[in-house]
Amino acid sequence: MAKGRKNGLYNSVSEELSALMRTGWADTERHDLEPAEQAPYAAARRAALSALFPGERLIVPSGNLKTRSNDDTYPFRPYSGYVHLTGDQARDGALVLEPRSDGGHDAFCYQLPRDSRDDDEFWIGYTAELWMGRRRSLAEAETVLGLPCRDVRTVTEDLAAGSGVPTRIVRGVDPALEAAVTTGEERDAELEGALSDLRLVKDAWELGEMRKAVDSTVRGFTDCVAELSRAVASSERWIEGTFFRRARLEGNHVGYGSICAAGDHATIMHWTDNDGPVRPGELLLLDAGVETHSLYTADVTRTLPVSGTFTPVQRQVYDAVYEAQEAGMAAVKPGAPYRDFHEASQRHLAARLVEWGFIEGPVDRAYALGLQRRFTMAGTGHMLGLDVHDCARARTEEYVDGVLAPGMVLTVEPGLYFQPDDLTVPEEWRGIGVRIEDDLVVTEEGHENLSAGLPRSSAEVEAWMARFAG
Ligand code: GLY
Ligand code: MN
Ligand code: MN
Repeated sequence: MAKGRKNGLYNSVSEELSALMRTGWADTERHDLEPAEQAPYAAARRAALSALFPGERLIVPSGNLKTRSNDDTYPFRPYSGYVHLTGDQARDGALVLEPRSDGGHDAFCYQLPRDSRDDDEFWIGYTAELWMGRRRSLAEAETVLGLPCRDVRTVTEDLAAGSGVPTRIVRGVDPALEAAVTTGEERDAELEGALSDLRLVKDAWELGEMRKAVDSTVRGFTDCVAELSRAVASSERWIEGTFFRRARLEGNHVGYGSICAAGDHATIMHWTDNDGPVRPGELLLLDAGVETHSLYTADVTRTLPVSGTFTPVQRQVYDAVYEAQEAGMAAVKPGAPYRDFHEASQRHLAARLVEWGFIEGPVDRAYALGLQRRFTMAGTGHMLGLDVHDCARARTEEYVDGVLAPGMVLTVEPGLYFQPDDLTVPEEWRGIGVRIEDDLVVTEEGHENLSAGLPRSSAEVEAWMARFAG
């Protein structure tokens, strides 16, 4: 007889209760479902993957719940490569591409089906459907995803049946599935790299999702400006919560931990504690992105003067970053080497830093030695999509050493950060951090700034705050 959890208040189930629970349920199978809008796009992505690995079996898991403590779990986030190839977000799933003799593949999506009501599994245990919510039946999943679905509880058996077939799996996503197959580390890494490569150019459906992510993010930033006085009265957490509410209302979540960095916290690249004060006269660096229901994220930064106007030094830093961003964005066009936008921005900042006397010139020498990095810290941008740092495993020659192509989406995000304890700059510069980050899609003609709905120049930011700041 199934037991409850250790130290739960019910420690046994009577035969009578078990029988009672199994009976009297309506048939809730859904027959009204339609294929997802994304299904044909996902099929095209699978076809592109199939063409790269003829004769090989490919396994792309979705991942499992991760324990937070005891029987409590973290919110589940499926592996992005699985989402890209299926449009599905279910846990414990796996896409398997079985090779055919003609060089193509047959795709199967393994899914955890609905819990049976012929035993106690549907109502006992933390992850039971009655506790966690209804899943899709295999037939429902087939309709929505547009590909054959199988019960994941038989995947090991099915894979054992073709154990002679050369196999690759994406590692680090589903340890149990990984242990059930024989593969090679290097070849598995090639599969993961290929999945990243495939995501470098977004299809039309993905671009629509990116627009939604950015549009919601723009609304979230406006919310934060409107709530600024309440943040001054409380802390950076008010900003974090305000943006989070927009993300949860309009999308799935935030695409990464929001950076709500006031005062000298702005000089900390990954400041996500967000527990500091928001003081008039200081800057607030807000780096945040809404993740859509389909799991595509924006990644936008604005740096705002809390009192509504920049001090002369803040403006000097801000305008230099703005000009560096303009120079970087001008380099975003099809056929341009990926590194160009980064170099254009960094060179501009190096020139300013030499001019201000913070690094030794001439500019070419300073730039060649990377001296500006003391104050610019990070690269000027990255690919964006299902992951905030998207396509991270792509082949270097296709990504940082590659060229831009229409459909790529990337951030351009130069910044200057003067640490509060940096004795090489005058005191009034210390603790100032400025980043301006926008999300660009490469078009046939050049680029489109998806986040152009937010003010960028210092004058525009001040006018925006005068209008909306609460
Ligand atoms: N928010 C992380 C980044 O800008 O890359
Ligand atoms: Mn970014
Ligand atoms: Mn960012």
